[in-house]
Amino acid sequence: MFNLNDIIRPNVLKMKAYSSARDEFKGSASVFLDANENNLGSLAGENYNRYPDPHQKKLKACIAEIKGVLPEQIFLGNGSDEAIDLLFRMVCRPGQDSMLHLPPTYGMYEVSANLNDVTLEAVQLTEDFQVPVEEVLINVKPTTRMIFICSPNNPTGNLIEPESISEILRAFKGLVVVDEAYIDFADARSWTARLNEFPNLVVLQTFSKAWGMAGLRLGLAFASQEIISVLDKIKPPYNINEATQELALQALERGEALKDMVEEIVQERELLMEALPGMPSIEHVYPSDANFILVKVKDPNGMYNYLLEKGIVVRNRSSLPGCEGCLRISVGTLEENQQLLKAISEF
Ligand SMILES: Cc1ncc(COP(=O)(O)O)c(C=O)c1O
Repeated sequence: MFNLNDIIRPNVLKMKAYSSARDEFKGSASVFLDANENNLGSLAGENYNRYPDPHQKKLKACIAEIKGVLPEQIFLGNGSDEAIDLLFRMVCRPGQDSMLHLPPTYGMYEVSANLNDVTLEAVQLTEDFQVPVEEVLINVKPTTRMIFICSPNNPTGNLIEPESISEILRAFKGLVVVDEAYIDFADARSWTARLNEFPNLVVLQTFSKAWGMAGLRLGLAFASQEIISVLDKIKPPYNINEATQELALQALERGEALKDMVEEIVQERELLMEALPGMPSIEHVYPSDANFILVKVKDPNGMYNYLLEKGIVVRNRSSLPGCEGCLRISVGTLEENQQLLKAISEF
């Protein structure tokens, strides 16, 4: 049986959250002299002299409705990178505990592990970038607190088989973090639908990809109310700024447009997937459920530098074990993709 109190850091279990001015006074008033703000106003704009809602109530209510979860099952972070870091600080004791990830994958899991002095266990994805479940479970140590699974995975682009994830969720007594940063581009159901089934599941999503809000920094973690209440306890009180909260609410109201934008990106992705394999410099194009494509090329460094000369920046992933020879290419606009295809065909 999973028991959060068995894995939570003792200091986190004991500590109290910071009590902000906005927590201590909840009624209505006309004169606020409780938070050392500038009551004359703001040089940046109307509301910005006031601290934002530390609990992001309006935003969470809106997201809860769209995602079909309770507001209490949502944590909002300054990007999902903040949620990743807080998860480490919630359950991993520095210098004692470990986490397991599945390279080639998103680099921040390793960075957060190193920052928090947490041992990193790595089990390589299979050749078709799937999770070798048995090997993962064999590599779980008594100190392993979390397993990170990225689906669709960055930089490989593919979804992870749901059966592999559910098997790990059942067998592992720590947190299983499923990072769904690219889920909007995939033809798959989010793991948020199964939160009530798995008390050790944490699902990460972000507004940085399909919603086009990378500059505003808004990430999400979905989990049991118990897990979310701990993340809320240890987060910096005002981690989501007022501008981000306001703009995210506006974006959510325009949620209809998301579908069109995602459809266009997926269509452009499919056009790239069709055009690239025929080109002589391309060895292999991996299937993608995301807004980028992993491409194996004959001369990755040569092609990377050649594209740079043409003013096109892609990500050189060729030195990453498991991605030898590969460039990761984000799907751009129609014009950008045509420019890319023309450049590669001339390489
Ligand atoms: C798999 C994955 N997770 C999380 C993130 C971070 O997202 P955010 O911008 O919300 O911090 C990224 C960003 O590239 C990503 O690829």
